[in-house]
Amino acid sequence: MELREVIGNRRSIRFMLPYKPVEPEKVQRMLEAARIASHWGNVQSLRAVVVFKDTAPQEVIDAITAPVAGYQIRIAPVVIVWYVETAAVDEQSDRLRELLRAGALGFGEDKHEALERQLIPFFSGIKERLKEPGMNEMDCGQGIAQATLMAFEQGLGTCLLGGGNTEKMKKNLGLPDSARILILQTVGYPAESADAGGQRPRQPFEKLFSMNGYGKPFPRSQAVVDELIRDSMIQSQSPASWREAELEYLRKALAIKGNGLI
Ligand SMILES: Cc1cc2nc3c(=O)[nH]c(=O)nc-3n(C[C@H](O)[C@H](O)[C@H](O)COP(=O)(O)O)c2cc1C
Repeated sequence: MELREVIGNRRSIRFMLPYKPVEPEKVQRMLEAARIASHWGNVQSLRAVVVFKDTAPQEVIDAITAPVAGYQIRIAPVVIVWYVETAAVDEQSDRLRELLRAGALGFGEDKHEALERQLIPFFSGIKERLKEPGMNEMDCGQGIAQATLMAFEQGLGTCLLGGGNTEKMKKNLGLPDSARILILQTVGYPAESADAGGQRPRQPFEKLFSMNGYGKPFPRSQAVVDELIRDSMIQSQSPASWREAELEYLRKALAIKGNGLI
């Protein structure tokens, strides 16, 4: 699949084949994709514990919960616990020095001296603020997005699940105090049809994006839209006519109790 098609095929997949294990190599490719995503100051605060349900200790599995559509955790063979390691900010000076040596940042012979004199003191002065939710979450989102696209490129499905009991998770996973759990990501082979019922609703393009100032909608070229439809990035809108029947089928096959919302 080309990148455009991978982007177009990505949906939140909530229904997985519970009996089909996910190969660790496929998860490794997801993590490799996350690792090379961009990070502010090259800090690399995104970390993860990957939980394979067939081998993880029971106390780890018991701690992994989510308040919205939590049945997904029971079904998925793999759950990635993504977290921010705020202590990574403490090593930021070294990351900047590495960037300089790599030729990614700065010019001239005195750039090393200038880094020590200007940039490093600037960041050191606001270090504690930089550990708070903000820029690190941005980095982590980029990394998780790359991992997600890699999952779909390999035929896997994933769904992000927010708001779990992070204190119990932190304790049972053995995470340090400096860790801030961001999100759980279920990973598995989809039990749903390939398009999972079609592209989920989105706000109109012109409402979301402006050009040269707020309220001046970015002009959306129909030729570009047609090109992206041809390349399978823009796909048919949900719900497909058969989607409700598919959901009912999945509910029974996967023994999901209740309304599937919580
Ligand atoms: C940060 C984040 C948290 C989410 N949390 C949940 C969740 O707790 N439960 C759930 O079922 N879906 C969750 N989702 C999935 C969204 O609801 C999903 O993006 C929405 O259904 C749009 O569909 P799509 O991802 O298939 O395009 C989350 C998505 C994101 C990006």
